[in-house]
Amino acid sequence: MFNKRTKIREALRMPAGSSDITVMGWVRTLRNNQFIALNDGSSNENLQIVLELGLFDEKLLKKITTGTSIRAVGKLVESPGKGQLVELKASGVEILGLCDTEKFPLQPKKHSLEFLREIAHLRFRTNTFGSVFRVRHALAFAVHQFFNERGFVYLHTPIITASDAEGAGEMFKVTTLPFDNTPRDEQGLVNFKDDFFGRATNLTVSGQLEGELASMGFSEIYTFGPTFRAENSNTTRHLAEFWMIEPEVAFNDLEDNANLAEAFVRYLINYVLKNNREDLEFLDQRLAEEEKQKPQNERSEAGLIEKLESVASQDFERITYTQAIAILLDSPAYKKKKFKYELFWGADMQSEHERYLVEKHFKKPVIVTDYPKEIKAFYMRQNEDGKTVAAMDILAPGIGEIVGGSQREERLDVLEARMTEMHIPIEQMWWYLDSRRFGTVPHAGFGLGFERMVQFVTGMTNIRDVIPFPRTPKNAEF
Ligand code: 4AD
Ligand code: MG
Repeated sequence: MFNKRTKIREALRMPAGSSDITVMGWVRTLRNNQFIALNDGSSNENLQIVLELGLFDEKLLKKITTGTSIRAVGKLVESPGKGQLVELKASGVEILGLCDTEKFPLQPKKHSLEFLREIAHLRFRTNTFGSVFRVRHALAFAVHQFFNERGFVYLHTPIITASDAEGAGEMFKVTTLPFDNTPRDEQGLVNFKDDFFGRATNLTVSGQLEGELASMGFSEIYTFGPTFRAENSNTTRHLAEFWMIEPEVAFNDLEDNANLAEAFVRYLINYVLKNNREDLEFLDQRLAEEEKQKPQNERSEAGLIEKLESVASQDFERITYTQAIAILLDSPAYKKKKFKYELFWGADMQSEHERYLVEKHFKKPVIVTDYPKEIKAFYMRQNEDGKTVAAMDILAPGIGEIVGGSQREERLDVLEARMTEMHIPIEQMWWYLDSRRFGTVPHAGFGLGFERMVQFVTGMTNIRDVIPFPRTPKNAEF
């Protein structure tokens, strides 16, 4: 067996004197031909490997450069240096893989996030991305734990579908038809009869519609999978491929839905505060240094951990869209014409408005409910006023919209009328409407953008830095 090793994170917590310890990892640095800082991704802490002078061949030492992978065997001894309790006094070192120093782009110095994005295949070996992706992992695990504890069924919804769940037309087509010589019918339209599925298909923008169907049997389900949107938004909060968690609950109304969403977000934050302390402390410090580069008046007052603790411990603010617009129209920012986008009842709030509400006005996450029906999806339940729908967005500091959800329109006639108005193909969606024909019930759900949640928890400002291989307009490398 090759892999008989101690993880570096564990080795650093073992008592001095432990012998016959094998570690493997990638060399971060070699100092004075004697001290190797070794990392295996189990944490940001490196294990210092001490090479006794004269014990190792010069030729071997020459090959140990930043990036080289090695196996080291030896005894843990008390470390006289600062920063660690123990170090490994090596009796043997073996090179597993050489690293071409001339070409290896990661040097033991601070690289910009932009540069690291260009070498996303290597950035796992940096402290920042080590922390970010360990936190991402922990959040994913906490998602399942939250719903499992509450008896929800994890539902795998299809990636390839023939419907547009959001009705926004931002879909990537899926086809096996040739680009040249595309089969066409008499009217010159693409003939999908010859396509793989015999019809037009696309990558899913949301698992919600299928989730609703399953909730009409299990009462409580959630999905957690990739979703795809061909929206041409080149921002720090949009990806063309992102992961979404979508619970759907029968017998819930809008308030139940908001309660579930708030409990969920706070649970995730608490989980990471409890289980990922070291990585959060690293990210907290990283952010503090980044803040120092900003002009005084743009710096955030609270540190990352402080911010997370405050969000996890306080109730979110809850207001209606109508109240939100009133607050914004009455704000000094509006009066001083600081907003770029137009603002009136009926307008889709832009991120500058959302951020004003959470960062300046309430200074905590805000749940906005009851939006105008014109700016929301066809499936949302219509309110008595005839103007608004039972929608709910959660806005988070530094992020803006992190959750979008609603109570669903469970009344068949009202739903059909709205779909017709919005040109949603009723016949094609017979299966969706069946859920309203056969034992319909009030139900509600929401979608949490997983990457936006990871951004919020890690304090990373660009969404491209919280997913291993980001997909954005004009970018699908790796
Ligand atoms: O508000 P959205 O579009 O809602 C839905 O998809 C519903 N079907 C959810 C539901 O009710 N089941 O998206 C939900 C969340 C947003 O609040 C945002 O956090 C995230 O998904 N999101 C994106 N994240 C990254 N890149 C994008 N292009 C995103 N679009 C939405
Ligand atoms: Mg939304």
